[in-house]
Amino acid sequence: MAEIRKDEAVDATPNVTEVDVVDAATEDAAVVALDKRVDRGEPILQVRNLKKHFPLTQGVLFKRQIGAVKAVDGVSFDLYQGETLGIVGESGCGKSTVAKLLMNLERATAGEVFYKGQDITKLSGRALKAVRRNIQMVFQDPYTSLNPRMTVGDIIGETFDIHPESAPKGDRRRRVQDLLDVVGLNPEYINRYPHQFSGGQRQRIGIARGLALNPEVIICDEPVSALDVSVQAQVINLMEKLQDEFDLSYIFIAHDLSIVRHISDRVGVMYLGKIAEIGTDVQIYDHPTHPYTQALLSAVPVPDPDSRDHRERIILTGDVPSPANPPSGCSFRTRCWKAQDKCAQEAPLLAIPERFKGADGPAAHESACHFAEEKDVVHAA
Ligand SMILES: Nc1ncnc2c1ncn2[C@@H]1O[C@H](COP(=O)(O)OP(=O)(O)OP(=O)(O)O)[C@@H](O)[C@H]1O
Ligand code: SF4
Ligand SMILES: [Mg+2]
Repeated sequence: MAEIRKDEAVDATPNVTEVDVVDAATEDAAVVALDKRVDRGEPILQVRNLKKHFPLTQGVLFKRQIGAVKAVDGVSFDLYQGETLGIVGESGCGKSTVAKLLMNLERATAGEVFYKGQDITKLSGRALKAVRRNIQMVFQDPYTSLNPRMTVGDIIGETFDIHPESAPKGDRRRRVQDLLDVVGLNPEYINRYPHQFSGGQRQRIGIARGLALNPEVIICDEPVSALDVSVQAQVINLMEKLQDEFDLSYIFIAHDLSIVRHISDRVGVMYLGKIAEIGTDVQIYDHPTHPYTQALLSAVPVPDPDSRDHRERIILTGDVPSPANPPSGCSFRTRCWKAQDKCAQEAPLLAIPERFKGADGPAAHESACHFAEEKDVVHAA
């Protein structure tokens, strides 16, 4: 099984993208263990057939709709208490739109997001505000997501102004200092401005703001993409520590497949507004069955020269189609080397492929492909 070593000390992790291959004999046990870990209790979030179609309009005075950008087009998944679900995919595939829909920052065109059984896409006003306390977001860019004219104390404390019931007025300064301490910043920095911090420190402030209301779910949209590799490792390690401490559930969105594997229990791969494949980190990274996932993984840099020389590199041809005019049938068919007639006629469902059902092996996970099969793109020798 390929596994990422989770280093204890922040500075001992110079590069979180390093992959450490360990005993292959333990693979099946590890898959079973992972399944058990994510299979506990009711999901905290249940996303069902979620869609966001942005209207395309023409005309100045009399606007008329001439089409729609299908940014998210039927996404379904569950998030369990205490787990991290990674979401990966190329730029423009709809990751940030999914994040905004989960927070109800964008209104869904169709579908549901159940938080502990309650559909939050139908909520507004006070009911929505109450739910939002429990679902917070950490944004990509710590430079633009913090108001440069506010002190750190005001940035984090603002959360308590929006939800005054969460902290009595006289207690807020102490609460902000506690939060700074929790994310590894000196509580005396409370009166400093964002420009007086490094990028990594600013992202810690963003995380402290996300934690202020004791949420249960944190949606992280590319939280480390704007940071140096060594600082990425520190922020990732901090997030893992906070997850254990506060039993947080994360949705972790990123481009970098290695970082996503490092932090995630399960991973969903998105393509053109849909989930192509979803499973545990072992299932997706070591036993991918969808051609798109296989192509993405074949492009990940491998530190070991031997593996690098032997493995197969899948080069995808053609551009990503426009989400305003996706291909018929399987949306990946215009770039898929395995495409056949059926792929143009019938959209594949995200399900465990028939041939793997009952096999109970790591290939038995959900994959939206008519011809799903394993391909050893990472360890080919
Ligand atoms: N408000 C909007 N109006 C119209 N189209 C939009 C809007 N927001 C996003 N889109 C389109 O929806 C698609 C998905 O965008 P989104 O930002 O969710 O992608 P992403 O996967 O987060 O990309 P990236 O990795 O670059 O952040 C893109 O084609 C984008 O242009
Ligand atoms: S359904 Fe067809 S086009 Fe789509 S990924 Fe599978 S083989 Fe490729
Ligand atoms: Mg995005």
